[in-house]
Amino acid sequence: MSLIQTTPLQPLRIGPITIDTPLVLAPMAGVTSHAFRLLCKQYGVGLVVTELLSSHAIHYKNAKTFGMFDWNDAERPVSVQLFGGDPAMMAEAAQVVEAAGADIVDLNMGCWVPKVAKTGAGATLLKDVCLAQSVVKAMVDAVKIPVTVKIRSGWDSTQTTGIEFAQRAQDAGAAAIAVHARFASQGFTGHADWSIIRRVKDIVTIPVIGNGDVETAEDAKRMFEETGCDAVMIGRAAMGNPWIFADVKRFLTTGEHLPPPTLDERITASLFHLTTMAADPHVGEERAVKEMRGLITHYFKGFNGVSALRALLVKANSIQEVTDLLHHERRRSA
Ligand SMILES: Cc1cc2nc3c(=O)[nH]c(=O)nc-3n(C[C@H](O)[C@H](O)[C@H](O)COP(=O)(O)O)c2cc1C
Repeated sequence: MSLIQTTPLQPLRIGPITIDTPLVLAPMAGVTSHAFRLLCKQYGVGLVVTELLSSHAIHYKNAKTFGMFDWNDAERPVSVQLFGGDPAMMAEAAQVVEAAGADIVDLNMGCWVPKVAKTGAGATLLKDVCLAQSVVKAMVDAVKIPVTVKIRSGWDSTQTTGIEFAQRAQDAGAAAIAVHARFASQGFTGHADWSIIRRVKDIVTIPVIGNGDVETAEDAKRMFEETGCDAVMIGRAAMGNPWIFADVKRFLTTGEHLPPPTLDERITASLFHLTTMAADPHVGEERAVKEMRGLITHYFKGFNGVSALRALLVKANSIQEVTDLLHHERRRSA
């Protein structure tokens, strides 16, 4: 029996959608593919979000972007994230993903990488909250599914516009807001300042999803307690670690942790990730193996011999080679 006080988990409600477990997988470009979202779903995450998709590319019917429409019923509810700074184009893209089965459409206002930010999209919208509000309004008017927004605290520490914008997003009809509590200018440096999440929570009535630097179940509990947020979103700590959602859930409800995944479980999960990705006709085996080279070692973080394994995995060219390497690792560690 644990002496740690537990936190009753309240469902997260986004418009008409009820999500029993208020834990969200953060959108991550190059990471949160269908395969990985499905894996996180199996380990208890409440809501998954796709990586960001370009409204511009959707407007111009870019085949590669349509190839990223990879969600299906097994991962519902699924939120599809879009980026763009033009209200009409964002409204159109929202309609396209709604027609393609998205349950929720999310506006990216957090991406600071020049490729996105210099087009007036992503976190750049935090510099012009009136335009950002028009984008939300145009999307809300265009679709029946809930529209959500993912912001950062502001562009930089001189402009904490995220807080002002949260109210505007609600006024425009947004159904929830996720706050990555860093300024765009910080990238991933420094620490997330969760007090911004608390300030957003204090001014809006729509659900607030807290995000930034949650690495453990204890962090998730602290974020709920310190910010009053309605859900916790986890990104980097879930990479190669879909078990984090089951552990957070267990810890919040019982004060106890689950045992860490065994090597066998890590091998099984990483191979599921790889084979599910390869089965997507828009990806295929060759690309899946290449993409997984960077992701697979996350599953074995902290294991003895992980650097040697990484060196071998980057040379693997097929699912069979990856499988053989992992099984060899299993025998070596037995
Ligand atoms: C590899 C990577 C890709 C990301 N791609 C996106 C993205 O497509 N859309 C988005 O809103 N945020 C993106 N993010 C930011 C995450 O969603 C999240 O806000 C950030 O990692 C902070 O949460 P964490 O500390 O739990 O990782 C990305 C982060 C990483 C590490």
